[in-house]
Amino acid sequence: MRISIAIAALMLLGSVRMQAQTKTPVYLDETKPIRERVEDALSRMTTQEKIAMIHAQSKFSSAGVPRLGIPDIWMTDGPHGIRPDVLWDEWKQAGFTNDSCIAFPALTALAATWNKDLALLYGTSIGEEARYRNKTVLLGPGVNIYRTPLNGRNFEYMGEDPFLTSKMVVPYIKGVQSNGVATCVKHFALNNQETDRHKVNVNVDDRALYEIYLPAFKAAVQEGGTLAIMGSYNKYKGQHCCHNQYLLNDILRGEWGFEGVVVADWGGVHDTRQAITNGLDMEFGTWTDGLSWGTSNAYDNYYLARPYLDLINKGEAGTKELDEKVRRILRLSFLTNMNTKRPFGSFGTPEHALAGRRIAEEGIVLLQNNNNVLPIDLSKTKKIAVIGENAIKMMTVGGGSSSLKAKYEISPLEGLKKRIGTQAEIVYARGYVGDTSNNYNGVASGQDLSEKRSAEVLLAEALKVAKDADVVIFFGGLNKSDFQDSEGNDRKSLGLPYNQDKVVSELAKVNKKLVFVNISGNAVAMPWVKEVPSIVQGWFLGTEAGTALAEVLVGDVNPSGKLTFTFPVKLEDNGAHSTGEFPGNGEVTYKEGIFVGYRWAEKQKIKPLFSFGHGLSYTTFEYGAVTADKKTMSSSDKITFNVTIKNKGTRDGSETVQLYITDVKSSLPRPVKELKGFEKVFLKAGEQKTVSITVDKSALSFFDDKKHAWVAEPGDFEALIGASSSDIRSKVKFALAD
Ligand code: GLC
Repeated sequence: MRISIAIAALMLLGSVRMQAQTKTPVYLDETKPIRERVEDALSRMTTQEKIAMIHAQSKFSSAGVPRLGIPDIWMTDGPHGIRPDVLWDEWKQAGFTNDSCIAFPALTALAATWNKDLALLYGTSIGEEARYRNKTVLLGPGVNIYRTPLNGRNFEYMGEDPFLTSKMVVPYIKGVQSNGVATCVKHFALNNQETDRHKVNVNVDDRALYEIYLPAFKAAVQEGGTLAIMGSYNKYKGQHCCHNQYLLNDILRGEWGFEGVVVADWGGVHDTRQAITNGLDMEFGTWTDGLSWGTSNAYDNYYLARPYLDLINKGEAGTKELDEKVRRILRLSFLTNMNTKRPFGSFGTPEHALAGRRIAEEGIVLLQNNNNVLPIDLSKTKKIAVIGENAIKMMTVGGGSSSLKAKYEISPLEGLKKRIGTQAEIVYARGYVGDTSNNYNGVASGQDLSEKRSAEVLLAEALKVAKDADVVIFFGGLNKSDFQDSEGNDRKSLGLPYNQDKVVSELAKVNKKLVFVNISGNAVAMPWVKEVPSIVQGWFLGTEAGTALAEVLVGDVNPSGKLTFTFPVKLEDNGAHSTGEFPGNGEVTYKEGIFVGYRWAEKQKIKPLFSFGHGLSYTTFEYGAVTADKKTMSSSDKITFNVTIKNKGTRDGSETVQLYITDVKSSLPRPVKELKGFEKVFLKAGEQKTVSITVDKSALSFFDDKKHAWVAEPGDFEALIGASSSDIRSKVKFALAD
């Protein structure tokens, strides 16, 4: 009898335990609302587990809760491709053989496509690569505004205009996050130079802050739904941006309603109490900023580690803020590495290489093409001289945290040889020596760029091969080494480095059919602009760089890129430099205010070398007169502008129709005009289409810093339709009613 009772009891216990085991805890139950799951998970965590979750445990990871099956969070750079893994606690390469990625074009090139569909393709593709590598957060994209052409990191960003950047960053975010990978939009905010980046205090008026430097971040949060934001190194109002009351609590969370996670830039945290209260959620990379190297595996010493726990244990800090941080991190996890429905990604695929190539093709900008030297007519071309170090130098290695270990990279010279084959003879000469390094952070390009020849010999050889060529293509510009297009420092001048100007000028003397391809993420001075008939902005285009460049140069692809920033003739033509406020001296004041880029040039009536929005085609487009669907709009209305555009040439092509708005009379100073719409349209030869762009009052508004609000003042406005900011084809007046 007693045995049967015991057996019955055991069976009951077993079934209860079975019940308990089969009943999914709320935090793991994906049918439950995320908020409920977060609270359940939080309630199960100890204070130590919560502290462990809010700071790094390795170079690129933070702790989950092993006891509860909540996984670690893995971060990865960067905006152009998935960074190769480093060792747990060292910047040294892990030496994996399965982490060679597809290197996508730099974000300047993506923005130069002005194609929102390609931004989605970009984000989806890089998101698939991140997902496949089991990364939780992609540390990008970067959207800092191009204030000066000397900023070393401009190549990672999307140019000088907040509207264009806002429109291109949203699809990128959606593409990445559709893979169950979080974007971490960076660097929030005012990180517009590398000089003094860890401590420079930026002084900027509220109008410039809200009209120029914040919009892309706001769009990333409110339209893109980014799950994370990265604080920047610099200071604003005297506080480091990684723990900044104004930017993180007042604006990001208070005004924009951001529910995501704020991640510190690596080494961006400097104070425990500020890090507790000023909006930061995750601390990474402390002491790896070169300011003060910590001991290895020093993660428990992080500002949000033991020092925070000590404050709690001494009763000097509560756990309210800690719980808030952990809630946001848990929410991110539930939407990413704990989302069992997310796709599985893919890595290093031909599809991703093709995506990168398509973006590269549409991002290349034809700046000048006198006498139609381009496209190269291979039926009439016997010999092509290719000159310049940038025709052969790998550009996916270097430049700082965006440096990659690419699965492969087609150089411009390789791309031309592959495309042209035996159709013409290609001869190469280096022309000058730039950067012979071939290694970054332990990733070697494998190229030996060492050079024994003198500058004179190199020049003589270049002139020799160029003299009797049918066409000469010079690949120059910048590269990813220090004081070029690279993180950590800024350029020292607008001019081309390595004495390239002399090489270009000498080449122009021996051969009139000269093409200059600027491989860079920045504007450069071109004193020889009148001697060189054709000029192409070639960007850093990643894995398929050479393929895309060759296709444009021989005319397989009709270029359709448009500049995302102004090319000033000289540095003083730029607002940051003419006001003398760059790079500052621990303090930098954006005295030019809202007048950045073309806004500055037009206010000062300065003619740029090449304008914002400029880009030619191998065909020509004729614009009709723009019309508006109403003469007067109310503040709750929308207004639509229509314009016909016709491809007058013999080749198919794409054109980006740009809409600028002028506020004829305003109570506060405003730019002459501002970009408020664009549409890229493909037209077959001879085809005509009508392009419509609809805007609401937000396109008329400016930020009134006294009211701390966006205002659209009733009165007269003008809509200007153009092929660039300086090539306005037609305009139409309209009014905003009281
Ligand atoms: C770097 C960069 C940031 C990068 C991070 C991790 O210093 O500023 O963009 O994502 O550290 O490498």
